[in-house]
Amino acid sequence: MTIAIDVHLPADQAVAMEHDVREGLAASPKELSPKYFYDERGSQLFEAITELEEYYPTRRERQILVERAAEIVAAAGNPATLIELGSGSASKTRHLLDAMRDAGSLRTYVPVDISEEITRETAAALVEEYPGLDVHGLVCDFEAHLERTPTTSEAGPRLIAFLGGTVGNLYPDERAAFLTRIAGLLDPDDRLLLGTDLVKDPGRLELAYDDPAGVTAEFNKNVLCVLNRELGGDFDPEAFVHVARWDVEHEWIDIGLRSLVDQDVRLGSLDLTVHFDDGELMRTEISTKFTRPRLEESYAGTGLTMADWFTDPAEDYALSLARLAR
Ligand code: SAH
Ligand code: AVI
Repeated sequence: MTIAIDVHLPADQAVAMEHDVREGLAASPKELSPKYFYDERGSQLFEAITELEEYYPTRRERQILVERAAEIVAAAGNPATLIELGSGSASKTRHLLDAMRDAGSLRTYVPVDISEEITRETAAALVEEYPGLDVHGLVCDFEAHLERTPTTSEAGPRLIAFLGGTVGNLYPDERAAFLTRIAGLLDPDDRLLLGTDLVKDPGRLELAYDDPAGVTAEFNKNVLCVLNRELGGDFDPEAFVHVARWDVEHEWIDIGLRSLVDQDVRLGSLDLTVHFDDGELMRTEISTKFTRPRLEESYAGTGLTMADWFTDPAEDYALSLARLAR
């Protein structure tokens, strides 16, 4: 059993954040990247969201894994290495690791996440839970540093898992570029396991992203606390309100923060003052929902093709296995 965590270029990450935020706040409408939600508190708030009655995706994905992880692992050719993008607490990942262990193929787990705290906690917990498992964690922005994930497949096939529906937080062009880069990492025997939330009743979707207890609102506003801390900002989270609306044209939930007043916000590290009009909406995330044809379309042209499709009985959520297109 070994454990190693590589933290990639924290200085570059800080520069990238300054650049992203400056650009996002200069855009019209203003926009922040959802990757900045996930400091230690943001990761904890996301975990709290996954336990909400209204937030069904985590439960549905878990249900598929509980029922079908053995089948998924067999269809993926009994992989030796599981590389997980946006691994977080890896709570559902245990079902895949169990199935790989039961198949006798489990050797290495590679969690890849932008949040250092949760990656260290997850890695430490997993080496305890799976005797003999090598855990090689990577703390990085998977959009910027995907190619830094280990490429060895000497011990057997690799499975890259991208769970939770996080692919839905990418814009279509980002999604296509990201899937293309994943294809560049795969050998013919390797597979991608992709979690996607499915299109459903808009009322249910909006409730999942605007829960009455206000946990999602706290999660959303946490990005302002991250900017205050990392960029010397003076955002007042109470001066913004959480908004989550179904966009029927794009088939995504549009999540943002609406300014409750006419206000100026200062970001000291950027030497920047930003004006918000009363009622102005700043986007903080999209969460795209899929249909099977739309997902097949998303794989087209990326070098990947869908090999298998698994849903829960209610068809709320899907896991698809993809392989290199021939
Ligand atoms: N896979 C887990 C967690 C999903 S939350 C689940 O299914 O429950 C999204 C995770 O992706 C968070 O842990 C967050 O820190 C990570 N993440 C978001 N954007 C990222 C990026 N650009 N690079 C690396 N990790 C990212
Ligand atoms: C991480 N990601 C898939 C979540 C989602 O459902 O889009 C993030 C989230 N945002 C608000 N609630 C959950």
